[in-house]
Amino acid sequence: MTASTDDYADLHQSYGRCLRDRDFIGRFYEVFLASNPDVPPLFAHTDFSKQRMALRKGITMAIFHAGGSRVVDRGIGEMGAVHARDGRCPVPAALYGDWIASLLEVVEATDPEATPELMARWREAMGVVVETFKARDAAPLPLPQTPAQDSARGLFSRVMQGLRPQQA
Ligand code: HEM
Repeated sequence: MTASTDDYADLHQSYGRCLRDRDFIGRFYEVFLASNPDVPPLFAHTDFSKQRMALRKGITMAIFHAGGSRVVDRGIGEMGAVHARDGRCPVPAALYGDWIASLLEVVEATDPEATPELMARWREAMGVVVETFKARDAAPLPLPQTPAQDSARGLFSRVMQGLRPQQA
């Protein structure tokens, strides 16, 4: 099965289980910042309360994107632009491996239903978004939306509503 015919429903569910733990994204950043000495300087001026929410949504978009959904094209394109060499937060490609490894480590420790097979699926899906970011860095593409994507957008909106910030 290829990424474009697989909606990664198992990953949306796994991610939902991870997010029940409200420290999940915070722990990801702890692990990621410690994963490589080149990472912390990139976040020297970051407001982590905003950043945690941005990444929380970003991972949902990444799972949809890996599943071939065009409804997240705009969001994925914007994230790719932020991290491109001419973007606001250029990311050296060599660090993407650390990003994926950090995320997988925290998912595996947090999702009570994690299995080696599920973790391989996470690696596959996050590999898709990283490859898209790298390709975007090489050749930016405008990504128009079409009316046919409206019903998919409805589903996407409902999922994103569930990701609204919770009041502490
Ligand atoms: C090596 C990998 C990565 C590094 C070093 C990195 C680093 C950063 C930095 C420094 C920022 C800016 C924080 C600020 O505003 O001060 C940022 C923003 C962000 N990153 Fe990453 N990132 C990486 C990979 C990813 C991936 C794979 C995703 C998505 C799945 C992602 C999603 C986001 C989002 C959504 C934002 C917020 C963008 C905005 O404020 O408009 N990042 N990242």
